[in-house]
Amino acid sequence: GMEMKDEEKLYKRDGILYSTIMSPPENLDALKDLEAREDDVMLVAYPKCGCNWMVGVLRKIMTTCGYTLPERPPLIEFHSPDAQKSAAQMPSRRFFATHLNPDYIPASFKTNKTKMLVVFRNPKDTVVSYYHFMNKNPVLPKAESWDKFFSDFMSGEVGWGSYFDHALAWEKHMDDPNVLIVTYEELKENLNEGVKKITDFFSFRLTDEQVKVIAEESTFSAMQSSSMSSHGKFGNVFFRKGEVGDWKNHFSEAQSKQMDEEFKKKLSGTKLAAKLKY
Ligand code: A3P
Repeated sequence: GMEMKDEEKLYKRDGILYSTIMSPPENLDALKDLEAREDDVMLVAYPKCGCNWMVGVLRKIMTTCGYTLPERPPLIEFHSPDAQKSAAQMPSRRFFATHLNPDYIPASFKTNKTKMLVVFRNPKDTVVSYYHFMNKNPVLPKAESWDKFFSDFMSGEVGWGSYFDHALAWEKHMDDPNVLIVTYEELKENLNEGVKKITDFFSFRLTDEQVKVIAEESTFSAMQSSSMSSHGKFGNVFFRKGEVGDWKNHFSEAQSKQMDEEFKKKLSGTKLAAKLKY
């Protein structure tokens, strides 16, 4: 087939990089036609913060509750304009996800008060996860080196833009009743509790036993072993290590300091920083 050159795999729009293959401009243009419903289930995650993990959890919650979900990936910016149109015909409750900065999420999600689950992860583990993803995912350009990717991440020159911009944008919505912010770290700590919280937030009804089964089926090892059936032949790309603190195997002392200073400069004293225990 046609091979796309690495330098063509990301393009810029409104100052933010996007994947040419997964989120071409026509997909982003079509987003304005997506009319959110109040009972839609919306998942928002900056890349590598645990999106696929929560997609798995939400799919299990919804199918356990009797909903039939389409096979397609739920990320709205991956949907072609035609696929976007078909969403209007889909029965409730629909399931969507996005990596978009909240400022670019279609306005109807806000005006219709759609509930949004937002997943954040410590930025150090996020950039490490992103670095490996760049090198394994054929739709993204290979990272030149760890040092180069780290500096691109710090300046927001990576797909879907700056982690810090996303974090700052969500900081304004920490107390919105239709927003639930969870962290990768808290989910690792107690997944059963996380699944329960998410189930309640979206007003789904599950027994304690059903919650427990979903949590057991959503551990890293369980999801990694079923990745071929859930994600196809590139499944393993999404399930690398699944741990907290892998940054220690990648960061230099200077990089760790730079990240701490940047985080402090941008997010010090915020509720999100407290949530991330940073
Ligand atoms: P690592 O690269 O650190 O392993 P996303 O889905 O947003 O792209 O995030 C991917 C990260 O989530 C990867 O992190 C991946 O291994 C991790 N992950 C996926 N499923 C997980 C699970 N069930 N439990 C813990 N981490 C998971």
